[in-house]
Amino acid sequence: MTITTCVFDAYGTLFDVNAAARAAAAEPGGEALAAIWPRLAEDWRRNQLEYSWLRAITGAHADFRQVTAEGLDWAMEAAGLADPALHSRLMALYDNLAAYAEVPAMLATLKAQGLATAILSNGAPGMLASATASAGIGDLLDATLSVESVGIFKPAPQVYDLVGQHFGCAPAEVLFVSSNGWDAGCATGYGFTTAWVNRAGLPVDRLPWRPAHILPDLHPIPDLARRL
Ligand code: LAC
Repeated sequence: MTITTCVFDAYGTLFDVNAAARAAAAEPGGEALAAIWPRLAEDWRRNQLEYSWLRAITGAHADFRQVTAEGLDWAMEAAGLADPALHSRLMALYDNLAAYAEVPAMLATLKAQGLATAILSNGAPGMLASATASAGIGDLLDATLSVESVGIFKPAPQVYDLVGQHFGCAPAEVLFVSSNGWDAGCATGYGFTTAWVNRAGLPVDRLPWRPAHILPDLHPIPDLARRL
């Protein structure tokens, strides 16, 4: 089926989630982070996601800013960093994450091809608004859809439902792009045509569904959307 709508996960897919810890480590006063920021970034991300799934399973929803802050709390304690100012700085940097270099041109090409474009993210609306503004990509997106309108995190199907509700399209018309293997796999199960952006060369997640396409970065997306 022809693709009409290209929908992107935000964190890790359009925005580089490691950029906050990397940038804080390079700032004056960031010496304590210099040697350990990759581990901190990994722990932060893993806990953020695990907490989102646990909150979804137990019905204890809180928005992604809180879940992100709680994941960072754990990661900082594990690293022996008890520094409220650093916590605040890292959270502020998370609101202004850089987009991957190819993102603006990739979105502009999709728009030129006549496709609708959107973000579908766990992020709270305020987080997504500041990240898209700081990355300068707001004008290239037709919608920014947040899980906050349904009060549960991915991969709950109510979240993927938001795309059809907004654009009035069928799931198979949607090319859903995520750097999270679990998100791409579960979106395949939902019925989207999916692409997993596997920058790290990770194995495919052992879930009942697999991503339909696996790409090294976002450069091939416009060509893939045209061919499907
Ligand atoms: C998001 C997370 C899962 O943007 O990366 O939804």
